[in-house]
Amino acid sequence: MARRRQIYEGKAKVLFEGPEPGTLVQYFKDDATAFNNKKRGTITGKGVLNNRISEYLMLKLGEIGVPTHFVRRLNMREQLVREVEIIPLEVVMRNVAAGSLAQRFGLSEGTPLPRSIVEYYFKSDALNDPMVSEEHITAFGWATTQDLDEIMSLSLRINDFLSGLFLGIGIRLVDFKIEFGRLYNNEDMQIVLADEISPDSCRLWDLKTNEKMDKDRFRRDLGGVEEAYQEVARRLGILPEGGPRDLKGPATMQ
Ligand code: TMP
Repeated sequence: MARRRQIYEGKAKVLFEGPEPGTLVQYFKDDATAFNNKKRGTITGKGVLNNRISEYLMLKLGEIGVPTHFVRRLNMREQLVREVEIIPLEVVMRNVAAGSLAQRFGLSEGTPLPRSIVEYYFKSDALNDPMVSEEHITAFGWATTQDLDEIMSLSLRINDFLSGLFLGIGIRLVDFKIEFGRLYNNEDMQIVLADEISPDSCRLWDLKTNEKMDKDRFRRDLGGVEEAYQEVARRLGILPEGGPRDLKGPATMQ
């Protein structure tokens, strides 16, 4: 791990300087946190699975024309991504009431929403990611109205596409969180999907049983966390070849 300069360490990932200018290496850890770092643990093999799952979903989204930061997977836990300027927003898209939305409005978890709802949160651990409106975002200069139009239209396309993709493997996409970044190319600026899409950042429920197949199993101490992540990868058809035994794997593999 000492071979590259570390740029940033988050709760579940580390970013290293990439092999070429304008690229970064995104390393997926097994560390899991919830409730803004108050609950901490390890989900064995999570980094390997999230690296694969995020690769798969970003490539599929790329195929329908959603621009992403993803370049290619490098090994079990690392992927090469374009260096972007992260817009400090967590964009949450919801299809079914769950989590903080269910709490805030007194809805029972599982109630379908009349339409998909998008919410913005300001990315700040120190402030506990407060929910913000377009007014706050534009007034404080985190993004422009044009940026938000693009973010909203990309988010809706991502939601439609991923909802269908998961439905095809018997999973309901209840909600998810995504992040965007600005990619600069000379004078041009493009907003692209960044970060990751994985069971850490989505709520995924089995279509038949409503069983949770995501990080809520860790947040709520439901057990079977590793198995749930593996099952998502298995249904996507991307469980690493050797099966679960591969997951502890070497931290890096050339
Ligand atoms: P919430 O219901 O707790 O607001 O979460 C909405 C979605 O966002 C859910 O799929 C989990 C995801 N999420 C993150 O990825 N990171 C976070 O810090 C939080 C709070 C939620």
